[in-house]
Amino acid sequence: MQFAVVIAVNLYGKNTPALKHCLRYSFYLLLVFLFFSCKSDIPEKKYVIGFSQCTGFDDWRKTMLAEMKRELSFHDNLELLYRDANGRSDSQIIQIEELAKNPIDLLIVSPNEIKPLTTIIEKVYNSGIPVVVVDRRIDSKNYTSFIGASNFEVGQNAGRYAATILKGKGNIIEVTGIPDASPVIDRHKGFMDIISGYPDLKYIKRFDNYTTSTPGIVNPVETFLKMNSAIDLVYAQNDFMAFDVYKICEKLGLEKKIRIIGIDGLPSKGGGLEMVQNKYIDATVLYPTGGQEAIATAAAILQQQPFLKENQLFTTVIDSTNIRITKLQNEKLLAQQRDIDRSQKKIEDQAIITKNQSYIIYTISISLALALIMGFVLFFFLKENKKINARLAMQNQEIIDQRNQLIELGKKAKEATDAKFNFFTNISHELRTPLTLILGPIEEMLQSSRQTAAKAQLEMVKKNTLRLLRLVNQLMDFRKIEQAKMKLRATENDLISFVSEITNAFTETAKKKNILFRIDSKEKELKVWFDVNMVDKILFNLLSNAFKFTNEHGSITVKITKDETNSIAIITVEDSGIGMSPETLEHAFDLFYQGNEGTYKGTGLGLALSKELIILHHGDIKIRSEKWKGTTFEVQLPLGNKHLETHEIVKEAAPSQLNYEDAKIYTSETEPVKKVQTETLTTHPKEQSILLIEDNTEIRQFLKDHLSADYEILEAENGSTGLNMAYEIIPDVIISDIMLPGKDGMFITDKLKNDIRTSHIPIIILTAKGSIEQQIEGLRLKADAYIIKPFNMEYVKETIRNLIRNREILKEHYSSELPSESIKASASKKIDRKFVREFSSIVESNVANENFSVDDICKEIGISRVQLYKKVKAVLGYNVNDYILSVRMQKAKYMLLNEDLSISQISFKVGFSSQAYFSTVFKSKFGLTPSEFKEKKKEIL
Ligand code: FRU
Repeated sequence: MQFAVVIAVNLYGKNTPALKHCLRYSFYLLLVFLFFSCKSDIPEKKYVIGFSQCTGFDDWRKTMLAEMKRELSFHDNLELLYRDANGRSDSQIIQIEELAKNPIDLLIVSPNEIKPLTTIIEKVYNSGIPVVVVDRRIDSKNYTSFIGASNFEVGQNAGRYAATILKGKGNIIEVTGIPDASPVIDRHKGFMDIISGYPDLKYIKRFDNYTTSTPGIVNPVETFLKMNSAIDLVYAQNDFMAFDVYKICEKLGLEKKIRIIGIDGLPSKGGGLEMVQNKYIDATVLYPTGGQEAIATAAAILQQQPFLKENQLFTTVIDSTNIRITKLQNEKLLAQQRDIDRSQKKIEDQAIITKNQSYIIYTISISLALALIMGFVLFFFLKENKKINARLAMQNQEIIDQRNQLIELGKKAKEATDAKFNFFTNISHELRTPLTLILGPIEEMLQSSRQTAAKAQLEMVKKNTLRLLRLVNQLMDFRKIEQAKMKLRATENDLISFVSEITNAFTETAKKKNILFRIDSKEKELKVWFDVNMVDKILFNLLSNAFKFTNEHGSITVKITKDETNSIAIITVEDSGIGMSPETLEHAFDLFYQGNEGTYKGTGLGLALSKELIILHHGDIKIRSEKWKGTTFEVQLPLGNKHLETHEIVKEAAPSQLNYEDAKIYTSETEPVKKVQTETLTTHPKEQSILLIEDNTEIRQFLKDHLSADYEILEAENGSTGLNMAYEIIPDVIISDIMLPGKDGMFITDKLKNDIRTSHIPIIILTAKGSIEQQIEGLRLKADAYIIKPFNMEYVKETIRNLIRNREILKEHYSSELPSESIKASASKKIDRKFVREFSSIVESNVANENFSVDDICKEIGISRVQLYKKVKAVLGYNVNDYILSVRMQKAKYMLLNEDLSISQISFKVGFSSQAYFSTVFKSKFGLTPSEFKEKKKEIL
């Protein structure tokens, strides 16, 4: 059943309540089935019967055992344990003890001798084991049942027969077995009981323990008969002793004279009946074995059925008068017995067949029951599967509906994107004309202009116009590819000369940037089918990238090779530039992906476009790059034109000229930025300094160009450098871009504004991203101004001027009313107020300290001397020493006015050890000596 459950659960995968119910039901069904099929097979209780035989070698005993076995075959529940003591009483005692221990349910015993066996048989009986005594008796009534003929009666029958055939007169001898065996005793008694009634019958001698004659051994009966020929009758206590006596008589020639009586009357071959029939002996007294009765009685006892304690068997004399009828009866009996045996055999065979059939029926029944269960289970699965299928069909439909909706949405999204792209493409297209129109005049102006400053600015305009043009072109190209409008127009060209021409466009840049630039090829000429207008874009793009990311004194190598199979042309552009991070490398060809490599950020168009153009050539592009080691691009173009469709091949000669617009717009990108030479640049030293933190070199340069006339300009191209410079230099104004590699503008603002050393510096945040949230965040971090790109330079300049002016006003405010109580409340920024408070209180508390110095203040506040000087100058407009002196003088003035102290005392109290020096300083500050001041005060008062 468990097996069925396991199969069911495994088949179905889950143990649902319905499945459990189904299996439980099947289980009950199987139980009922098994109950009915096994009901008739309840086993009967088995009994073990121990049988102790005194001796088993002779025919009479063998007949007894055979009878027992025959009877046993009618009792399936009885088992016989047989022991033969070989005529020895001591052996029989041991065997009975062993049988009793075995254990047995009943003991059948034919005791060898009376006395030795009585005790053990009583013992067994008293232990509760039923005892059936057969044939011979014991000297006790402690047994359950006795079976056997009366040996006294047997003896009487023999006595009567002897008297009859001897006609009451003659000499008799007796031959017996063991004298202590009960049959020997009783048979003798019965015999004597009869012949004692005949005075002429003489009982001459008795021969005990008679054994059959063996050659070489003197037989006592033979010896006796030789000496006493007047013997008329031998009474032998069993047939085989009687036959032995007959043989002696025959030997002595007395067989006709001496009459012989035996006992037992066995019907078997050579048995007593045959002896009578063959006239070897005169008569035999029937002595039945009781084997069959012994087993029948034992069965009755064990199954608690009625039985008799004493069972006396029938006995009679068989002689020439009734031998025929007795023989016939016996033969009939034997025939019946054989029939019974045959039937018994048949029954046994039948029983085996029935048993086998039963097994088959059980197996079939169990299989049927299991099949029934499996049927139930399968039916259940079928039902469940139907349900699941229905559910799945529903879910499937839902998924299909959702998919359709998604397709619909996708379509709409694509339409919207297409519309958007079309719009951009159209705009881009529209932009091309004005850009070209701007470019023309600029180029003319550049040629004609002699003013260096104007020329530099025009260069910048030109460069940025070209940049815009490149973007517009790339966008349009990409759109064409996307809409499959860009078709390959391949012509056969010499790749070597084509690549050389393109690389030539970069030689000037290479020189200016001190870059080792070379082209390397083993071949002199390499004919390749390609679209010159596409491959030039690919190469310009790869080369301009290489130049952008390679610093001065780096190297760029272009190699042209063929693969081993001579089927692919390979162009390699290898630079020793800044390389890419693994993340950027992974997305290098993704559209609009902008890596964060150094200060330059691309549009994410160039490489994506190049890849698409190479794919149009049925070629491939590969990239290898390692951060700070360099980048290598490998362009693969298939050789020959078998890979090209007919419409991709153009028969006319290729235009030999390069696309100069491409050359211009790609090379201009890599040109180093020229500085605008302003005439005022070196005219006068600048009072204020501005720190520019900006990663874009051009914007930085642009700002520098426009601000360096009025301010000292310091530059930092990333956040960390900017921050360090701010602490070191303490500039008057900081202009920082918000998007910076590493630490951004917000971080810098937050840091500087919360540091006592730099908190006073006005910060202008500069960014292209003008979201209001970012502006608010910038102001929250205490940025002083927020300027959005593109910016108006005048607006920037004005903002700077305003911030510096405000700082001046504040300074005046701080310093106008020394001593410092009044300034404590007015500093515009909390951190600056805190600084002023701290600084002035340190000075005031040390006013009387002659040795008080700037270093003491630096130590207490925790900043450097330079920082302290700059900070005090910026916030209070004072030199630190002047400030300390001012405070001392203000204090002295106050004491002269309000306290009744001598001038020398006052000079001491404000930190002067020399009164003369005090007077000099006082006079230079207030125009009067301390004593003159005191006098004047009196006048006033
Ligand atoms: C066999 C036998 C029989 C006899 C019986 C007496 O052993 O001697 O011939 O009748 O035993 O117990």
